[in-house]
Amino acid sequence: MAQYSRVSGTVGLITLLNPPVNALSAAVRQGIVDTLDKALSDRKVKSVVICGHNGKFCGGADIREFSSPLTGPPLIPLIQGVESAAKPVVAAIDGVALGGGLELALGCHYRIAHSKARLGLPEVHLGLLPGAGGSQRLPRLIGVPAALDLITTGRHVTGAEALQLGLVDKVTDRNTVDEAVKFALSVADQPPNSRRVSTFPCPRHPDLDALFEGAMQRVRQRARGALAPVACVQAIRAAATLPYAQGMERERELMATLFTSGQARAQQYHFFAQRAVGRWSMPSGARWDTTKPGAVHKAMVIGLGTMGRGISVALVQAGVSVVAMETNEKQLMEAKQAISSMLERGAKRRGVAPALDKIRYSWNMEPAADVDLVIEAVFEDMALKKKLFQQLSALCKPGTFLCSNTSGLDVDQLASETRHPELVVGMHFFAPAHVMKLLEVVYGSRSSPQAVATAMELGKRMGKVSVAVGNCRGFVGNRMLKPYLEQAFFLLEEGTTPEFVDQVLEEFGFAMGVFRMSDLSGLDVGWRVRKADGLLNVSEGHSARIRQGCRYSPLGDLLCEQGRFGQKTGRGWYQYDKPGGRVAKPDPWLHGFLEKFRTQHGLVAHRIDHQEVLERCLYALMNEGFRILEDGIAAGPEDIDVIYVLGYSWPPHRGGPMFYAGMVGLQKVLERLEHYHQEHPDIPSLKPCNLLRKLVVNGSPPVHKWREFLKKPQSQL
Ligand code: 3HC
Ligand code: NAI
Repeated sequence: MAQYSRVSGTVGLITLLNPPVNALSAAVRQGIVDTLDKALSDRKVKSVVICGHNGKFCGGADIREFSSPLTGPPLIPLIQGVESAAKPVVAAIDGVALGGGLELALGCHYRIAHSKARLGLPEVHLGLLPGAGGSQRLPRLIGVPAALDLITTGRHVTGAEALQLGLVDKVTDRNTVDEAVKFALSVADQPPNSRRVSTFPCPRHPDLDALFEGAMQRVRQRARGALAPVACVQAIRAAATLPYAQGMERERELMATLFTSGQARAQQYHFFAQRAVGRWSMPSGARWDTTKPGAVHKAMVIGLGTMGRGISVALVQAGVSVVAMETNEKQLMEAKQAISSMLERGAKRRGVAPALDKIRYSWNMEPAADVDLVIEAVFEDMALKKKLFQQLSALCKPGTFLCSNTSGLDVDQLASETRHPELVVGMHFFAPAHVMKLLEVVYGSRSSPQAVATAMELGKRMGKVSVAVGNCRGFVGNRMLKPYLEQAFFLLEEGTTPEFVDQVLEEFGFAMGVFRMSDLSGLDVGWRVRKADGLLNVSEGHSARIRQGCRYSPLGDLLCEQGRFGQKTGRGWYQYDKPGGRVAKPDPWLHGFLEKFRTQHGLVAHRIDHQEVLERCLYALMNEGFRILEDGIAAGPEDIDVIYVLGYSWPPHRGGPMFYAGMVGLQKVLERLEHYHQEHPDIPSLKPCNLLRKLVVNGSPPVHKWREFLKKPQSQL
């Protein structure tokens, strides 16, 4: 798992060999120990180069090994062995040097990187810290502020930025290994004593206390309860204040706590889940590895409001030529300006020229005749969308894929308006569409595997994690949101306040509680949907709190009737200093309104505690997740969890709602749902779903085994 050869007469070349990313598995670590021994004991060898097979230096420790006991040589002494070698050792960094991979490079005496290589210590995203000396060597090499930035955010830097930071000694645009060998020849006679990073003093900083206090405040705010970012700051503080050996001891202690934590398990699950969703399948049996996507060179985006603008930007950045179309003149002019400035800002960040020539604008639909794919993002109005799909079907050349960004309307109904329903799929982006990483690809009953493969592939090109889901009201994400929001409203009716519900959910780790989020996105959005669904009509002789036979909370509708749409009107569940204001303040009017509502409906407020808020909101959401699995709308729990973490701000250190259900214990989730459903028999979403019962009866298997209990997709191939 590490190859050895002697090149240019005197350079020992060690090549890490473990495709696809040369992760440091037990075999690779053993390979490094053996080949390094060989190089150091070969008298002809004067210097050593370590590189990775197939243009990738190393993607870090082998994460798959984390769940079993350690075998093979441990990484810390291995890197120590590299650093203490008497002959100069040069890292040749191509592709990636991440986590343990970069820590290995930090143990080398010199680092040569390709300008486009990506370097970083992303362990924080796995619930860990750089635990093979990275937290101690990096600050010694590049200083505490830069190390705090890289380690607590886990961000990757390019070779070029790494050079500016002092992380590498040289960058090249040529063959990195050849350059590293040349470099190794040039330093062959220089003893590496002064190049051992662990012996460097940590660069001084004028006010370390203030620096670490600020860093700790920032990470605590961002971390939303995650342990790893906090431990990263503590480890770097040890590097800045203690001798290397003591710093390493502190790194070891902190890593030991993180390594066995549920949070690390959750984040590592999320890492693999993000990759697993790419291996999609459809109930027909069609799969990711047997379906070829269609080519998309040119696309059209229709409707340039909030979503259409972001989608256009993301397409252009992915190298697709775009025709952006809008009927409203003012909106078109504004969109053109907004899109250009988003493209310019994005290009500046990436150090490239903005591809403004890749997009053109249109008032009419004619350019649809010449594109490979259309994404419609007009108002959420079925009649309008249907008309558009009819027009597109008549206009487009044969084979053009027709996609809708609808957030929950029936994709089959849209497809039925076209001559080729097999070309229709949902592409549900999240706002802002050029930033958010999630894409739900919705297949209807007649969508062809190729249409799904095309949308999935296009999402990947746009830098998204695409998840294929079935067609139902709200798809996966918004369907699960409904019972969650409903519970929050019911809790207000029963006695609590928006502030308390939000506080509980934010303490759990959501970026925003339900009510703050609802104020941000606008209460009128849901109001319009409920109107269209006929939910605003109270049946004669029935309570206003019952609609279509189930318990219903009219609170949101009542606020909208008062013109309280949230931030945009300066009033919603909270009050703001002006329309468009951002700072939510408790609103005494709202509290009075809730009291009046309760009196009017004969409700007696009772004390609702933290546990009840959390359980009713989250367990109702999870229960819907189980129903979605049961209905075959999501292929597995990983799909739901990826959607929730990437699209709905579910805290990554809690894995996702389905993973979290497993962490809590399925038996407990079932019992609590039964309890709440007994208390509220008029709320069907609290009735435990059959799949949940089935899993409990079968001994609550771990989340990766749940697929065995789902109905098998029926192959129609
Ligand atoms: N360990 C095990 N498997 C890994 C891995 C790793 N470190 N990195 C990637 N893989 C696997 C992926 O699971 C995937 O497997 P699959 O094909 O079976 O799904 C395959 O390699 C390819 O990965 P990607 O699909 O992600 O390929 P990309 O080319 O898109 O990205 C990458 C490559 C940027 C290296 C990305 O995989 C990545 O970010 N990997 C994780 C890097 C990381 O976090 N390293 C730190 C590990 S922890 C550590 O080192 C602890 C140390 O401090 C002690
Ligand atoms: P928006 O109201 O900001 O923009 C819609 C745009 O469509 C407007 O500019 C309007 O002038 C234009 N339009 C209307 N009819 C048109 C026609 N016939 N031809 C061309 N343009 C037309 O709406 P938004 O928020 O961008 O939503 C668009 C779609 O995306 C909706 O289906 C919505 O449900 C969905 N969506 C919205 C999200 C959000 O957070 N806003 C998130 C995910 C999906």
